[in-house]
Formats: sequence, structure tokens, C-alpha cells
Amino acid sequence: MITVALSKGRLLKDFQRFLKEGNLPQYEAALVDPGRNLYTEVGDVRFIFAKGADVPVYVENGIADLGIVGEDTIREQSFDVMKLAKLPFGKCRLSICGLPNLAKGDIRSAATSFVNLAEEHFLKERMDVEVVHLHGSVELAPLLGLTDAIVDIVQTGTTLKANGLVEYEEILPIQARLIANKQSFYTKEAAMYDFIQELGVL
Ligand code: PRP
Repeated sequence: MITVALSKGRLLKDFQRFLKEGNLPQYEAALVDPGRNLYTEVGDVRFIFAKGADVPVYVENGIADLGIVGEDTIREQSFDVMKLAKLPFGKCRLSICGLPNLAKGDIRSAATSFVNLAEEHFLKERMDVEVVHLHGSVELAPLLGLTDAIVDIVQTGTTLKANGLVEYEEILPIQARLIANKQSFYTKEAAMYDFIQELGVL
């Protein structure tokens, strides 16, 4: 048995689509509507549903052998895991965004859930920007005057548009990544390899 940690939400939906397109109905059916279930099993594979930021924690600690997570999560914080294949879904970007009437050079503060990535970027660009940590709904910050800008995930651009915000600059392209626990990679090599081969991503 191997355990695969999945991020709930958007990435899970993208993974379901990937399974459907890849003709893997046995997995797709099990993941279609997990509801309030925290895990499900299909043959020798147990899927656990976690919050995105927690997926690498389960993998690092060996609770999960594999994990599917956005590149943003494993770039924001470092984890002692093996980074395996880049997966062909979960594509989005981390961008600096804000109200339309502000020039990039005028940004003095930015709200984000990705404090490390934002600070790293502003430092590299030699921009003197105060980074404010928010846990979600960061679009509120420039609308209410908490900060000039935000650093946030943009996928379709719908959320920005709905709030009258625009994208100034992409700072990191993102896609899903397959990660593995370092020990499991050797102790459960055959089972993990079978699953990865089924996915067709290596
Ligand atoms: C992310 C991000 C934006 C939205 C962008 O939030 O924080 O709010 O997606 O996507 P779009 O460009 O397709 O509109 P998510 O829905 O993942 O939830 P979160 O706020 O809990 O992170």
C-alpha cells in the first residue's frame, strides 16, 4: 500500500481532469466527490485529502509516500522531500497585482500569503516594499487600503477582474509537482514506480 497526499480544492479538480483525460477511471471515480471524507482507497493506493500547504508536511514525515502539490507551496517553504516530476496540470502563476492606477514603481506595500517568495522577489528587484502577511482573500487589502498591492496566485484572472484589480507582473510560473518521501522512495520503490507509471508522468 502506498499513500498519496492530495491538495483539496482547485488542484484536486485539475488532477481529476488529468485522470479522466489519461483514461484512469478507477482513480478518477474515487476522487470525484470526496465530500467530507479525509481519505479513500483504490486497490493498493490510499489517497488522503489535505490542505495544500500541509501536503509536503505529510510527505516529509513519511505519513504519505507521495504528494501532489503546487510549486508555490514547496517554493514558499523548504521541505526535506524528493521533488519528482513536474505534472502537466495546476498551471497558474504568482503575480504582483493591484488597482489599475498604480505604477509598479509606486508600490510601497503588498499583502500576500507567500511572504517568503514575495520578499525574495522584492529584494532581488531592489524594491523597498513592506510585505504584509494575510491568510486569504488578499484582494481585500488594496481595495480597503491596507496595502498598495498584492502578491497572489492568478489562474484564470477571474478573481482579479471581479474585484477591479489588474496584474502588474508575473513573478513565478507554477504547476503541480509530484513529491516523494525520501525513505519511501527506496523502501517502496516498486509500488511507487507502478503508480507513477500508471500516471504516465515519468
Ligand atoms: C486563489 C488566489 C485567487 C484565485 C485566483 O485562491 O488566491 O484568489 O485563486 O484564481 P483565478 O485567477 O482563476 O480567479 P483559491 O481559490 O485557490 O483559494 P484561497 O484564497 O483559499 O487560496
